[in-house]
Parts: sequence; C-alpha cells; structure tokens
Amino acid sequence: MMNSLSHADLITIAEEYGTPVYVYHAEKIKEQYRKLQDAFSNSNTVFFYACKALTNVNILRYIKNLGANVDCSSINEVRLALHAGFPPSRILYTSNGIDFNEIRDAKELGVYINIDSLSNLEKFGNAFGYSYPVGIRLRPNILAGGNIKISTGHDKSKFGIPVEQIEQILKLVNKYKLRISDLHIHTGSEIKDVDVFLKGIEVLFDIAPHFENLEFIDLGGGFKVASMAGEQETDILLLAEKVSRAFASHPYKKGRNLQVWFEPGKFLVSAAGNFIAKVNVMKETATADFVSVNSGFNHLIRPMFYDAYHHIENISNPDGPLKNYSVVGNICETDTFAWDRPLNQVREGDLLVFRNAGAYGFEMSSNFNSRFKPAEVIVLEGRAHLIRRRDQFDDLLRNQLEVI
Ligand code: LLP
Repeated sequence: MMNSLSHADLITIAEEYGTPVYVYHAEKIKEQYRKLQDAFSNSNTVFFYACKALTNVNILRYIKNLGANVDCSSINEVRLALHAGFPPSRILYTSNGIDFNEIRDAKELGVYINIDSLSNLEKFGNAFGYSYPVGIRLRPNILAGGNIKISTGHDKSKFGIPVEQIEQILKLVNKYKLRISDLHIHTGSEIKDVDVFLKGIEVLFDIAPHFENLEFIDLGGGFKVASMAGEQETDILLLAEKVSRAFASHPYKKGRNLQVWFEPGKFLVSAAGNFIAKVNVMKETATADFVSVNSGFNHLIRPMFYDAYHHIENISNPDGPLKNYSVVGNICETDTFAWDRPLNQVREGDLLVFRNAGAYGFEMSSNFNSRFKPAEVIVLEGRAHLIRRRDQFDDLLRNQLEVI
C-alpha cells in the first residue's frame, strides 16, 4: 500500500473488513502535525490534540508518539489519554459545565485543568486554593468558525466565563489565592481567518497583567481543513508569523516567556479519515435519483447536523459517466448525506467513500435503529490493521438488564 490510499487500497480494505468502515491513514495525521510543528518551530508553542475528534486508543498513541499533547473534554477522555500512555503533564482537561467531582478527579490525576464557570472556579478555590495551578476558559465575545453550532466564542455562547466578568474572576482569584497559570479561549471550529486568533490574543493580553502566575496562553483549536476542491485550509504559516509577532511586540511580554497552546482536533485527523459505505438500493424518482447506502446519521452525522460537506467518490466505478444523485442512508429518518451530487454512475453494490471523515465521524456515531457501529481500520506504514471490530448483536444488549 502506498503512502496515499488509492481506490484499490480502499476497496481491498472494504472487502476484508466489510462496510461500513472508517479507514484512517496514519501518514496523513503525521503530515498535518508536521505542518504545525514546522510553522511554529521558532516559537514556544505546544499542541494539544483535541481528542474529542477521534478517541480510538490507537490514534491517541499514534499522536502521542508524534510528540503532541492531548486536550480532553471529559474525565473519561482524560482516562483514555492516560490509558494510551500520555503522562499527566501532557494532558489538559478543558471542562465545560461539568460536575465539580470531575475537576477533583482531574486534579487527583495531576493533569492541567481549564475551568469555564465562576461557580466551579469558586469550588476549586474552596477545595485547593493556591495548592494547584488552574486555567480559566474565557468567552472573548468573538464570532468565528463555520456553522453557528460550532461557533463557541460569541456573546451568546454558553462556553467560558464572559470576559466582561473579569472583576468577579479577580475577586475569586484574590479570595482563594488562586494560581492562574493559563488563560484559554476557543472561539469555534473551521476558522479560516487567522486574524480571529489575533483578536483573541488581544482580549487575553488585555487582562493578562492581572494574573501574576500566568505561564500559558491557550488559543484553542478550530483550524479549518479543506473539504472540497478549491477550498484552502487555515494558513498555518501566516498564523505562526502573526502570533509570534503579536507575542514579541506586546508590552505584556516584558520579562515573561509565555508559552502558546493550541488545541487542534480536525486539523490533525479530519483528512486522515475515509468512511466507506456500500450502495444498497438505487431509487429513481421524478425529483431525485436516490442512492441508499448501508449507513446514515447513525454513522456520520456531520452532513445532517451541521450541513457539513463531505466529498464522496464512487470508488467502484471511477470512470463511469457523471450523474447527479441524492445520497441517503438506510435509517428511518431523513438522513441525506448529499443532494444533487455529481458522482460517477452508481450501481447497487458499489462502494462510496466519504472523505474528511476522521474528525467527529466515528466519534459521533450511535446505535440508532439498533444498527451496529462501524468498524475502524488504521493504515500504518502501508499495512491495514483493524482497530475496532464492528459491533455484534450482543453489543446491543450488553448493558441492558432484563427485568421483564
Ligand atoms: N478545544 C476546545 C475547547 C473545543 O471545544 C474544540 C472543539 C476543540 C479544541 C477542537 O476544535 P477543532 O480543531 O476540531 O475544530 N462536531 C463538530 C465540531 C465541534 C467542535 C467542538 N469543540 C463538527 O463535526 O464539525
């Protein structure tokens, strides 16, 4: 198998492991990580992989071995990261609206913590005071990102402590002698415009002088990847240049070497993922030619939930004449992957590949309609390995208690 996965490679994998199946190309993750590292090589910057995008433990280990740290959004993700071998010093837990017990557990486990409410900050102060450093997630009131559902930094968003509540934050910091080591923002996902990060830096620099123990400025994730022809991913080189200029020229920098953190999810794993489904049924109607695949929003919800575009290719008939199709799933709800999408002529039994499926693909899948979650395969140094077997019937009953 070559460095880039060919149609023949994908067909071989689909034949061996069945469909639907997620196939991750490890080399592509490495390539994306290298882009970040190379761009920021002259600055004090650390990348935390936002593992909510894809938590298969093999992916976590692969990314750990590349040298990245990891950002978690639940205590279970923290535990998975530890299981994958990340030491606590390379794990960040950016919490949001969680029960304080999870913060207590995270502290016990010794990981970095970002707190996003005054309420939990107060509980943290009560429990730990100065004894354990902590970060604050702020809401910078910046509108950024793709679909509004993935925009998190605007002035109506639930995420972070609104920056205008700085007086209340400082009251708690003083009352409990909190050791604030990190200021965090994450304004959204699919941010093309690098100036969004610069605006965020300005907001954080404005308040940074209040925090004498500050070590890290965390600008979150949200780098855009290209999902269709002609689209550009976030210009990482330009970002690196602008960020280092902002840090070099800002007066607050005096005497301090603040480390910059980023939390990329999609940027690392999106393009590495291919989702392969098989065409069950063709249905010609007056309004559309439907292609029904053996999947649905139970396996890949992004098109239905965020109107996300996933490029689709008919890998079984790549030279067939182009026709327009509506690609739909087989579950009992409207689950349209694509409308009026030009594809090489599709026949029942053909295999379709959905690109850019590595991030929030498998991770957001479910057992809706009591269908099985897909298998996952990784291609590593030219060899395919099964890293999650497809569900089996027993999995549907595994946690059920039969009392009737
Ligand atoms: N850091 C924090 C605090 C986040 O909430 C997120 C994503 C990230 C980092 C990583 O963002 P990324 O680099 O992946 O854009 N399910 C949606 C995306 C939701 C993102 C939620 N937070 C989708 O499929 O488009």
